[in-house]
Amino acid sequence: MKLPKPTNILLIGSGGRECAFAWKIAQSENLGKLFIAPGNAGTAAYGTNVDIDPNDFAMVKHFVLTNFINIVVVGPEEQLVKGIRDFFLSSDDARHVPVLGPSKAAAQLEGSKSFSKAFMEKYGVPTAKYLEVTAQNIEQGKSFLGTLKPPYVLKADGLAAGKGVLIIDSIDEAKSELEDMITSKRFGEASAKVVIEEYLSGIECSVFVATDGKSYKVLPEAKDYKRIGEGDTGLNTGGMGAISPVPFADELFMNRVKRRIIEPTIKGIKAEGLDYCGFIFIGLMNCGGNPMVIEYNVRMGDPETEVVLPRITSDIIDLFDGIVNKTLRSKELTISPKYAATVVCVAGGYPGDYEKGKVITGIENVTGSTVFHAGTKKGAKGEILSNGGRVLAVTSLSTSVKAAAARSFKAIKEINYEGMYYRRDIGKDLL
Ligand code: AMP
Ligand code: GLY
Repeated sequence: MKLPKPTNILLIGSGGRECAFAWKIAQSENLGKLFIAPGNAGTAAYGTNVDIDPNDFAMVKHFVLTNFINIVVVGPEEQLVKGIRDFFLSSDDARHVPVLGPSKAAAQLEGSKSFSKAFMEKYGVPTAKYLEVTAQNIEQGKSFLGTLKPPYVLKADGLAAGKGVLIIDSIDEAKSELEDMITSKRFGEASAKVVIEEYLSGIECSVFVATDGKSYKVLPEAKDYKRIGEGDTGLNTGGMGAISPVPFADELFMNRVKRRIIEPTIKGIKAEGLDYCGFIFIGLMNCGGNPMVIEYNVRMGDPETEVVLPRITSDIIDLFDGIVNKTLRSKELTISPKYAATVVCVAGGYPGDYEKGKVITGIENVTGSTVFHAGTKKGAKGEILSNGGRVLAVTSLSTSVKAAAARSFKAIKEINYEGMYYRRDIGKDLL
């Protein structure tokens, strides 16, 4: 390892993903101190939460320098798109501290749909046909819609907190939404530009790749459950559960993903001179055995991380070292053949309005599963309070999808808070 041993880590973020990272990092014998900014009530069990705003890069740097941090691991996309890696690299006194995550320019793969579509087109990565539309070519956009079959997919170009994608059945409605997104900035500046896409039908799968910009390693893939309701009904959420491995992502399919998607993506990153040391999350659609990319994300998924990391049996800090020091090729990544299921418990009302501050009880009675905290915080008396829409992610490992999911459902029976809701069908479609 080039990272000093023991390694002091600052982990950025406060969700279930970061709780899973903290849990995995804490198992490493290479760990010195772990800090999480800002963290949640769950991450506090694996390290020290620090109350700093992760968007205040000067504050983050001050903390890093005064606490002898050796690596900054960034969970969410927000700070990456805002350029936290560039900030450190351009700072004389903090340049030596590697930031795990892509540069601002490379983070455009998630931060701008039009950038990522042009990248995919240029490097031959299979994706849906598309057109980029701004105030200058709305009429062209409407004609393009006329060449597609319903439903119609409209995407705000910029980050819109996962809400910027509309899927519309009627062409007239699609045309008026297109106009509305651009001219009335329905999603603010994010929708001053819109990407219209051909609709892909199939089953979605999330593929995760670690890269140092030169080589890559494929992490376990996962399937996410995005809708609030059972049977994939109702509003979109951040994710209600996940399963890994994905039964249809067999060797043939994953070889296609590697050859047709991952390799051209890495080649493109190199050819464009993008500084990419981090994770790539490829959201793809299995269209009759042919993988097509829906989107790139420049980070790990949430709740997918809560099933991906529990299946990784090798040391995570050693993997981080390979990523930031560009020695990934020589690193060992071992993966458990077990199935992992995570079931997300959300606040009543989510993804609409919901209340925070509900007392959560019973987590300590859970055995045989891991409870990752998402939106939680400690109350004045040390009690655990809900503090977000997605509250907990309960992960279990077993020999089948069914057994892993059943174990999480059983664990959840121990847990209680007012308004608790979860989907009882996570994994059911894969049986
Ligand atoms: P995105 O923010 O790009 O992940 O889109 C959100 C969700 O919209 C995806 O997870 C898909 O379920 C759906 N979606 C996006 N693009 C398409 C497409 N071209 N065809 C079908 N579904 C799509
Ligand atoms: N689970 C989807 C995401 O993290 O964007």
